[in-house]
Amino acid sequence: MIARSKILLIEDDTAIATILRRILAEEGLEVVLEQRGDQGLDRASREHFDLVITDVRLPGLNGLDLVRQLHEAKPLLPIIVMTAHGTTETAIEATKFGAYDYLVKPFEMPALLELVGKALESSRAMSDPVKIGSAESDGNAIVGHSRAMQNIYKEIGRVASKPISVLILGETGTGKELIARALYHHSERAQAPFVAINCAAIPETLLESELFGHERGAFTGAEFRRIGRFEQAHNGTIFLDEIGDMSLSTQVKLLRVLQEKTIQRLGGKETIPVDVRVIAATHRDLALSMQRKEFREDLYYRLSVVVMKLPTLRERPEDIPDLTSYFLQKYGKELGFPQPSIQPDALEFLQTQPWPGNVRELENVVRKVLLLARGFSINLDHVRAALSKLSTPISSVDQSLKTLVSDLLFAAQRGELDDAHNRILQMAEREIFNQAIQLAHGNQAKAARWVGVSRLTMREKLTQFGIHPSQDQTKF
Ligand SMILES: Nc1ncnc2c1ncn2[C@@H]1O[C@H](COP(=O)(O)OP(=O)(O)OP(=O)(O)O)[C@@H](O)[C@H]1O
Ligand SMILES: [Mg+2]
Repeated sequence: MIARSKILLIEDDTAIATILRRILAEEGLEVVLEQRGDQGLDRASREHFDLVITDVRLPGLNGLDLVRQLHEAKPLLPIIVMTAHGTTETAIEATKFGAYDYLVKPFEMPALLELVGKALESSRAMSDPVKIGSAESDGNAIVGHSRAMQNIYKEIGRVASKPISVLILGETGTGKELIARALYHHSERAQAPFVAINCAAIPETLLESELFGHERGAFTGAEFRRIGRFEQAHNGTIFLDEIGDMSLSTQVKLLRVLQEKTIQRLGGKETIPVDVRVIAATHRDLALSMQRKEFREDLYYRLSVVVMKLPTLRERPEDIPDLTSYFLQKYGKELGFPQPSIQPDALEFLQTQPWPGNVRELENVVRKVLLLARGFSINLDHVRAALSKLSTPISSVDQSLKTLVSDLLFAAQRGELDDAHNRILQMAEREIFNQAIQLAHGNQAKAARWVGVSRLTMREKLTQFGIHPSQDQTKF
């Protein structure tokens, strides 16, 4: 769950509101409650929220009108509609008018949390513009000035604003999703929705209904109508991630949608016009898939008006220093090591690695290295340890504790330190409070429970060590 996200809950039933508020706050989310539809709309229009969760039957203004008006005013703000059985049709209408999705009461909390997670993810993808070619450290930039990356930036500049289909190819972890978001943010549709679907993550049987929707009774279990993602993305952008994993029968349907610019919900007769810009991505070799008859050529030609092939990390080792310092900044802040530094030989070593997982792998290694170095300057041993696939978590903790103690004693020998005992206890203490609060997404009550201290102690320690988790969201 994305910590620090702010949710507006519009619900007039106090009992339900209280439970939802508690559950969401436990996830580290900040929840603001409104009990009337008109006041909810007013508040959402004035203040910034990452997500709105609303009931359908509300005093002042009903949920459907609320969705319609709010979506018009703030098309990038996701809205989840909660509905009782009697008003389900209304909730479905709401998804036509821009609601992200709906839940039928009574629902299980994990289902709500899963949906909230997805909606927040989608909200983040839309609202944080990706900066191109910049190393600013807010964690939302495409970094690298190698020639290969500069060609990519030029290509983004050339095609982003045109409503043409783009196919992004590249090995795993090369930044396909990041580039897709950059294309969206630099397009004329940046103020309209960006709807991302991972075709590999959705079971084949459900993917068609996810994309195109279905009518009630279209198949067993289709208890209600569902509005598909294409219909929801009308006037916006759809990102079909891992398109190489789509089954042939879904490919046929997708091709028809792209050719005719209309959709038909599964089991439906109505033809609905959709104007959607398509960006697709895959790590697969589509030429090979076509040879094997696993991917349709006609679909390939539709999608590949522009093809962007992302370079692997080993093709551009000159970008590794920039990427490393970008991730050091990003995770240094997050893990509580504000000024991380790395020694030149360690950095050189990183540049010689094969990086089968590309930028994502480098990102993970940098994160690990930061934890191993614990605020000290990162050296070759830290990097080797982080790269070693053999080290089990336990022994690596052991190992890094040993290294930490010997570093401290070494500093003491040189006369740079005279309180080694105190220092190590403090470091260990700081580490457990820091990790716990991060893991709990800023929820102090939860973190305190895990560490085995009172909430008061937790708060005192956070202040003492200057750890700044997401704001105290446990108050309600
Ligand atoms: N050039 C880059 N600059 C900064 N961060 C990057 C860059 N390329 C990738 N990343 C980061 O690396 C991670 C993986 O990127 P992304 O998810 O876009 O890759 P992908 O190609 O979609 O991978 P997969 O095929 O596994 O889905 C993300 O955290 C992303 O932010
Ligand atoms: Mg991806």
